[in-house]
Order: sequence, then structure tokens, then C-alpha cells
Amino acid sequence: MRSAVIAGAGVHLPPKLVTNEDLCARLDTSDEWIRSRTGMSVRHVVEPGGATSDLAVEAGRRALESAGGGADLVVLATTTPDHQVPPTAPDITHRLGLGTIPSFDLSAACAGFLYGLSTVAALIATGTADRVLLIGADAFTTMVDPDDRGTVVLFGDAAGALLLRAGEADEPGALGKVVLGSDGSLAGLIQVPAGGSRSRSAGPVTKLADPAEAYFKMNGRETFRHAVQRMSQASRAAVAAAGWSLDDVDRLCAHQANARILSAVADELGLFEDRQLSNIAEVGNTAAASLPTLLAMSAADGTLKPGHRVLLTAFGGGLSWGAATLTWPDVEVG
Ligand code: ACO
Repeated sequence: MRSAVIAGAGVHLPPKLVTNEDLCARLDTSDEWIRSRTGMSVRHVVEPGGATSDLAVEAGRRALESAGGGADLVVLATTTPDHQVPPTAPDITHRLGLGTIPSFDLSAACAGFLYGLSTVAALIATGTADRVLLIGADAFTTMVDPDDRGTVVLFGDAAGALLLRAGEADEPGALGKVVLGSDGSLAGLIQVPAGGSRSRSAGPVTKLADPAEAYFKMNGRETFRHAVQRMSQASRAAVAAAGWSLDDVDRLCAHQANARILSAVADELGLFEDRQLSNIAEVGNTAAASLPTLLAMSAADGTLKPGHRVLLTAFGGGLSWGAATLTWPDVEVG
């Protein structure tokens, strides 16, 4: 059976920065609280009027260059599409000069990139596509309440992309089995209450009884507990599916939601500091962009090397989660 093999990678962070000091200047918070509770120092954010597609086009262009060009399908993992209609991926494809190839959005919150990898692997295995550009991009700062200290400190905007081509399972860059899960009984832990068909059917969105309903809400403490449990379970399952043991994992690439969650997952799996990839201090939680951004930035700074066996895991709204394995190939990151 054909496997999905990484042929290129790219990343894009918007230039505008928001530091902990910037947040402290207008909110009742402190650099010490943010660093000790989250591990974050600075985030990149889109300018007013900027959108997810602007980030995705740049990351996609860099991944295509890194892979030597060409894609016959584009998938965008995002929770912050430019519009409810149309989907954002066709616009990205057009702006990348890729013509009329199939393109679609995929929504699984912070686990979106893993759901995307699984989808791309299936599309390649069945011969539907030969070279797929998978982009994880989110502009979460457009969705959080700027005055809610509990959420605004957590998120940054970014896009990361991989070009996956058809290849063999034993090639460097080959993706292993992707393990996925979801639990809709806990949907209320992470949500934007308004803006979807549920609230639209109740009346015009411009007349929300509570305007705060249009913003992102999260029960942080409960989410924390489930995140550690689910990412650890999925990681063990993905490692077993690859025929590896946890000792075989060279690098853990986990969704950068919170430094304390990351150390709890790493402790649970026995993957200590020198095997953990992290960019949370510089970019914060970038949702569906988190995994590809971390892969690309780590490969660029040399903490992720060709031949490294990588364990990926993520968790987010839905609830949705997953894990996967891959061997990092020798690619020049764009
Ligand atoms: N500065 C100072 N104090 C704050 C801040 C802040 N920025 N934010 C919250 N607090 C206060 C709260 O008001 C609360 O005060 P109280 O005790 O007087 O009520 C206190 O700090 C503790 O609040 P908690 O929410 O219990 O703090 P916690 O230690 O749990 O940290 C955090 C909060 C960082 C959100 C953490 O729970 C977390 O990271 N959770 C998981 C997030 C996650 O995994 N997200 C992934 C999915 S996201 C997605 O899918 C898009």
C-alpha cells in the first residue's frame, strides 16, 4: 500500500508580536503568572484585517518550494476560516497558483493537523492524490475576547505546512498509522457558543443577548486533565501501531497548549527534556498550526534532525485528539 511521505515543510509567523509585558499593561495579570502557568512569553498575531489564509498562503508557498513545487490536492486544517462560506482552502490554492485542484477545509480544533494527516494518508493510499499540501493555520487571536485574561494570554497566530507525496512505508519521512479519538459529551469544555447554525436559528447574530457568546470559552482546568490523559493514551497506541517502544522515540512533538500539560504528558511517557520539542515560549498555542509549526521550526534550528523518530500528539475542542509517528526526512525547511 502507498504511504504518505514528507517531501517538504514550511512555516510562517506574522511579524507583529504581543509580549507578556504588553498584556500586563492592559490586563490584571503578570509575567510571572503567565510564564509559570503556561510557559509562554510572546505570541505572533495577525494585524487588524489579517486572516488565516494570509498565513496559510505563505506557509504553503514555503512548503511547496521546500518540496520542489507541485501539489494535486490541498487540505487546510483550521478552526478560524476566513469566512463561514466559502471554505478557505480553494482561495489559498488559487493564491498559490495551483489552479483548480481539489481543496477543502478540515475542522478538528487543535487536533486538526493530525486529522489532516490521517485524511491525507488515506487519499494517497487510495490513489486519489499523489502530492498533497497539508496546511495547519489558525488566527485564534481573532476569536478570543481581548479582555479575558484567562484566554487571551494563551493564543498566537501561525501557519505550518507539509507537502506529502506517495511513497513507501520504509522511506525516511514516511508517516505511520494515525490514532484518533473524540468525545462529544465534553463539547462544552471548549467552545465559541455563538456564530453557528444553533445561534443563527435563534435570531440575527448581530443581536446576541450576550455579545461575549461570540468569543472563545474554555474550562481550562477540566481541559487540562483530559488533555494529559488523552494525549498520553493516544501516544502509546500510535507508538505500538508503529511497532516501536517509547524508548525508540527520539523526539516528542506535542500540541503546544501549555508547558505544564507538555511536561505532564512527557513524564507520563518517560520522554524527558532532551527528547521534547518546544516553541511554546515564542509562539504560544497556535491551534491547528501548532504541530507543523513546531516540526518546521525545530528542523530549522537543528533540534529535529533527519532520521529522528518522531511522536506527534495533539488535543483540542470537540473534544478531539490523536497521535502519530513519523521519521523526519532530509528536507530543507522553507
Ligand atoms: N493572570 C492572572 N490570573 C489569572 C489569569 C491570568 N492571565 N488567568 C486566569 N487567572 C486566575 C483565575 O481567575 C483564577 O483565579 P481565582 O482562583 O481567583 O478564581 C486562577 O487564576 C486560577 O485559574 P485556573 O483557570 O484554574 O488556572 P490554571 O492553573 O488551570 O491555568 C490555564 C489556566 C492556563 C488556561 C490552564 O488551565 C490550561 O492551560 N488549560 C488547558 C488548555 C488546553 O489544553 N487547551 C487545549 C485546547 S485549546 C483548543 O482546542 C483551541
